[in-house]
Amino acid sequence: MEKNMYDQVPTMEPQRQFYYMEKAKSYVDDLAQQLGRRPTFCVTTFGCQMNARDSEKLTGILETIGYEAADSEDADFVIYNTCTVRENANNKVWGRLGYLSTYKKHHPHMKIALCGCMMQEPEVIEKLQKSYRFVDLIFGTHNIYKFAELIVATFEQKGMVVDIWKDTDKIVEDLPVERKYSFKSGVNIMFGCNNFCSYCIVPYVRGRERSRKPQDIIREIEHLVADGVVEVMLLGQNVNSYGKNLETPVTFAELLQEIEKIEGLERIRFMTSHPKDLSDELIEVMSKSKKICKHLHLPLQSGSSRILKEMNRHYDKEQYLTLVEKIRKAVPDIALTTDIIVGFPGETEEDFLETMDVVQKVRYDSAFTFIYSKRTGTPAAAKEEQVPEDVVKDRFDRLLKEVQSCASERAQALTGKTESVLVEEVNEQDSSLVTGRLSNNFVVHFPGTEELIGKIVNVKLKECKGFYFYGEMTGEV
Ligand code: SAH
Ligand code: SF4
Ligand code: F3S
Repeated sequence: MEKNMYDQVPTMEPQRQFYYMEKAKSYVDDLAQQLGRRPTFCVTTFGCQMNARDSEKLTGILETIGYEAADSEDADFVIYNTCTVRENANNKVWGRLGYLSTYKKHHPHMKIALCGCMMQEPEVIEKLQKSYRFVDLIFGTHNIYKFAELIVATFEQKGMVVDIWKDTDKIVEDLPVERKYSFKSGVNIMFGCNNFCSYCIVPYVRGRERSRKPQDIIREIEHLVADGVVEVMLLGQNVNSYGKNLETPVTFAELLQEIEKIEGLERIRFMTSHPKDLSDELIEVMSKSKKICKHLHLPLQSGSSRILKEMNRHYDKEQYLTLVEKIRKAVPDIALTTDIIVGFPGETEEDFLETMDVVQKVRYDSAFTFIYSKRTGTPAAAKEEQVPEDVVKDRFDRLLKEVQSCASERAQALTGKTESVLVEEVNEQDSSLVTGRLSNNFVVHFPGTEELIGKIVNVKLKECKGFYFYGEMTGEV
């Protein structure tokens, strides 16, 4: 690059990235000329809603610089936004990289980028550098805002471009984002995690907790609403500790009250709530709110106080149950959902029965159940008392059965009621139906057309199918 070009590169963000977007655009235009068509991209997302939101940011940049979305990985630029929370998430990526390498042999101009949580693990980078030389670009979770700059590097540099940061205190605002849905959107309110639950790799790959300023969050939601969004999902690994590290501290409950005031916004959801930080103030705000959905995801992880201590969760069985009681009293029709891990090192049958006991007492509307997965570098990985596979499998099956029976019992109790529903899509199996979500997060399918997408309508829940309903629209809200 010529020196005077260097002089023009802004040092401030996001200006610097807009400069690189312009530059990337000219490279992509050249490529389009060579190909005789617009080059295409495909972003594949693994993992949680934070990753899904990050992928929308990647897509926003790719579309700004002139790539077109492809329906499949048969594209000119393939990006894997990876997850490493459990080993199987990780294995999926290795498996699919094999296919990509074959594909790239026949399409040498193709670019492949890997980013996300798995890239924050040094062993992964080593393995990629050694045996996966066909990958063009590798970056992590902290520098995704630099995507345009990194794309330019892949056009200007030979070989693999690798840029991984250990951690960051930086939050770059106002970059382009391309939403998957026109009417709903995730909104990051914080990044990272400071909790270090002993089984979990997230704090190592997502860095220290940092909150966005309330005014930046509000401004983003106002823009989203002006653009047709009626429902937001506030995202953070532990939203209940939002705002603690801001210059002027703000609580999550205070933030919610400010968001509630945004005119045109109809529904507010959030994810995830750590039980240890769920305040009375938040319960009160939820009980009074007209917009916060009647759904709380409250990960239990284990019902055994002994295991919870080993997990470093900072609550015990009784505290969790008391909290549930308090929430149900304040918001009687709330749906409670959870995450549970089976087979944490040293988990005995007695410990497991404590988990079953909590499930039976709380009667969750839905629960994600996971088999414990050993993650290198976490304190739990060093524990020797791993539970035998067949024992874990047996517990997992028993738990799943219980969880499913609670969920269908909870759904059954709603049958016959009329509820407001946000219509999300035309049903994939039957195009005479549309699919929507109740405030409490249950799904309903009912006769309707595409024009209803993004609208909130009243639907009578006629038939319960276990975890979802068939219904009939009774009118617009
Ligand atoms: N921050 C969220 C969870 C993010 S990870 C919270 O604390 O609630 C999502 C879920 O994955 C966790 O709730 C946990 O149940 C599960 N999980 C995390 N690490 C795991 C591991 N090593 N093995 C199995 N499940 C795990
Ligand atoms: Fe992992 Fe615990 Fe942080 Fe959730 S709160 S991301 S389970 S360390
Ligand atoms: Fe996975 Fe990273 Fe989310 S490890 S669960 S994508 S924060």
